[in-house]
Amino acid sequence: MFKSFNASSRPAKATPPSAAPVSRQQRPEPEGRPVARPVADPNNGLKTELHTLLLEQLNLTVLDKVSKSDLRHEISGLSAQFLQDRGQQMPSAAFQALMDELLDEVLGLGPLEPLLADPTISDILVNGTDKVFVERRGLLERTDVHFRDERHLLRIIDKIVSSVGRRIDESQPWVDARLEDGSRVNAIIRPCAIDGPSLSIRKFSRTPLHMDKLLEHGALSKPAALFLEAAVKGRMNILISGGTGSGKTTMLNALSAFIDPRHRMVTIEDAAELQLQQEHVVRLETRPANAEGTGRITQRDLLINALRMRPDRIMVGEVRGNEAFDMLQAMNTGHDGSMTTIHANTARDAISRLEQMVTMVGGDFPMQAVRSQIAAGLQLVLQLNRLSDGRRKVTSISEIVGLEGDTVMMQDIFVFKKMGVDDDGNVKGRMMATGVRPHCFEALMSSGVKLATDAFSMMDEVA
Ligand SMILES: Nc1ncnc2c1ncn2[C@@H]1O[C@H](COP(=O)(O)OP(=O)(O)OP(=O)(O)O)[C@@H](O)[C@H]1O
Ligand SMILES: [Mg+2]
Repeated sequence: MFKSFNASSRPAKATPPSAAPVSRQQRPEPEGRPVARPVADPNNGLKTELHTLLLEQLNLTVLDKVSKSDLRHEISGLSAQFLQDRGQQMPSAAFQALMDELLDEVLGLGPLEPLLADPTISDILVNGTDKVFVERRGLLERTDVHFRDERHLLRIIDKIVSSVGRRIDESQPWVDARLEDGSRVNAIIRPCAIDGPSLSIRKFSRTPLHMDKLLEHGALSKPAALFLEAAVKGRMNILISGGTGSGKTTMLNALSAFIDPRHRMVTIEDAAELQLQQEHVVRLETRPANAEGTGRITQRDLLINALRMRPDRIMVGEVRGNEAFDMLQAMNTGHDGSMTTIHANTARDAISRLEQMVTMVGGDFPMQAVRSQIAAGLQLVLQLNRLSDGRRKVTSISEIVGLEGDTVMMQDIFVFKKMGVDDDGNVKGRMMATGVRPHCFEALMSSGVKLATDAFSMMDEVA
């Protein structure tokens, strides 16, 4: 299984030599896993040496065939022997914690492993070797996790990137990748990242937030959620707009749960994040260029292909460029009930950005034609925002009602009214109906969702 151990082939002992404690700060271990590590770790040198030794001694090619407990046993044996040879001692708890770290190094992503295992963390942001931030409940906090040096961090980045057949080096200093568990990763290194390698991880949520959970979190009001359910069932084309990390993909996923399971769906994403529950789904993912700079497959390529796959509905994870043109064509040509997200700060901005993206396809499109396509193809725009207290909210649900002159006309159906901030910094406010009955109301009545006639009256709605 492993290469032979040390030359002297003394029996490796899995128990550490006891006695004099080596001063090593114990990590807190909620749910059995450590969350953060001390910056000034007196065992840094020892760990580096042990790690180098393990890389030399273990047969790395068979690691994936070996059980974790066997590997732990082997590593414990090697480490105990190493300590004994050097006459060093370590208390049992510290030794076990060291084994955890070494296992993480050998099998996983080193210091990032505890953060990846912590379910309360949604994003991990590494700015160089010793500035590691995480996002919990919408707010960023700095951890004391750190990497030994830049080589250590680069090795972890390389491990992530090479596991999905991609590369990162000076000539191609940034890359998008995905971890085995589906988490989305972006890495960027020198020379572009001036202060050292940077890594951004959006953790994949194994249990995505469904509409009932979003309601529980107060992301929107019950009448608004019912309206959205009716809109999806009634096959409205929907654009979900929001800033970075505002919950666009989460909302798209939640809305997709209302899609008729008999509908054939094709999803197109740069990194597959959507988790549709239906059976009839074809998932497509783009591909970056290879080392020779060829072979790139864009969202637009996939969208054009998707149109030949007899989809009932198409979902594009996020429109960023000229695929917006084809998305709009699809929405206008019988793929009703298609949805996508867009990066914009207001619903009005979302429409302007969409216009710009459509014209990126080239050719001489009169803006009037683009706008009339948007007015005819899109029915709803949802605006999401992350508030100053970290909570994510639907801040408006607007209906596109047509074109007046060369302006795409929109009316708000629901809006989030902010009413101040309490002493703890929590934003106070509630989602309200604007009192406008949507034009699509009659069409939605046939969707099977019971919308109360007063659902759109200006009543107090607790968000
Ligand atoms: N209403 C919500 N309440 C609490 N957490 C939420 C809510 N919506 C989304 N989240 C969490 O916020 C994080 C970011 O969400 P999501 O990936 O949907 O954002 P995004 O706008 O698509 O981000 P990006 O711009 O990076 O694509 C995820 O961890 C998600 O679980
Ligand atoms: Mg997203």
